Amino acid sequence: MPDAPHRVLVTGGAGFIGSHIVDRLLGEGFTVGVLDSMITGSHDNLKAAGKGVSFHDVDIRDASSIEKVVGGYDSIVHEAALVSVTRSVEDPLTTNAVNVDGTVNLLRAAVHAKAKKFVYASSSSVYGDSATLPKTEDMVTRPISPYGVSKLSAELYCAAFARVYGIQTVALRYFNVFGPRQRPGPYGGVIPAVIKKALSGDRPVIYGDGEQSRDFTYVEDVAEANLQALKHDLPAGSVFNIGGGEPHSINELVAKVLEAVGRTDLEPQHLPPRMGDIRDSFADISRAASQLGYRPKFGFEEGLRQTVAWFRSGETT
Ligand SMILES: NC(=O)c1ccc[n+]([C@@H]2O[C@H](COP(=O)([O-])OP(=O)(O)OC[C@H]3O[C@@H](n4cnc5c(N)ncnc54)[C@H](O)[C@@H]3O)[C@@H](O)[C@H]2O)c1
Repeated sequence: MPDAPHRVLVTGGAGFIGSHIVDRLLGEGFTVGVLDSMITGSHDNLKAAGKGVSFHDVDIRDASSIEKVVGGYDSIVHEAALVSVTRSVEDPLTTNAVNVDGTVNLLRAAVHAKAKKFVYASSSSVYGDSATLPKTEDMVTRPISPYGVSKLSAELYCAAFARVYGIQTVALRYFNVFGPRQRPGPYGGVIPAVIKKALSGDRPVIYGDGEQSRDFTYVEDVAEANLQALKHDLPAGSVFNIGGGEPHSINELVAKVLEAVGRTDLEPQHLPPRMGDIRDSFADISRAASQLGYRPKFGFEEGLRQTVAWFRSGETT
């Protein structure tokens, strides 16, 4: 293993996943900076990090500001994005501008700054609706939403920059990440939405029949994968699935949340399936296991317990 880069810039570091990566990197002794426009990020997420991070309030679409910030770091962990499938269906142009153009701005700045490593937060949405399960990194990608296309495009830019400019890029394809600091909202994930409903005594909503499945990944496992991606010497342009290791249906998820919250009396409400949603998703994580030493440490139920406890602590408000 080579010497780890010392100063790491986490874009989107005030967001859900980015803030956990910040905490993990600080715990490992890295010097950490956060670049975030705060569109969905929150300073509360950086409370644990405290004064340990430098904060740059910059939009990744602003190429000249990006150049100035990136020059002060050895490596980039790029989490900033517009994350919602629904939002990307409503406004594909802005999703493209942030997720694709923003990534190219960062890659360009990282090349100019001679950055050692560029770790990119990709997504299982790049696979789209292919029937093959589990998803392996080499299979054909067929995203079915503007969000999925934007995540794949940015990933391909990472690989192209690795080839053309020699920068070490690594793309981590996250599968349905969950955990503390993931907030409910119109564009939020399924787990916070279900927990919020259950805690306020409302019936949780399930889109479609609920038999669609997801590979839920606890956020601290994702933070660990990012740490290992920074530390390991990997082939440039590498791509890894980062999953929780087992599929769960939405019906099962809702039942487990209702149980954890003590509201099994609440009958889920079924609404029509949403546009752009994938039917089944489940990761083959053997490549990450062999090359990054990645092993999910948090089971689904343990992760849910931690997440419900965080909601109960009232930090969501
Ligand atoms: N949450 C998941 O299940 C999941 C799954 C696969 C991939 N991902 C990827 O992981 C990354 C982090 O997602 P998250 O769930 O933490 O979402 P999040 O919305 O909590 O975090 C995204 C962060 O990016 C910032 N941001 C957005 N637009 C920006 C811009 N133009 N300039 C600067 N900062 C900007 C936001 O303010 C926010 O802090 C994203 O790249 C996302 O595509 C997430």
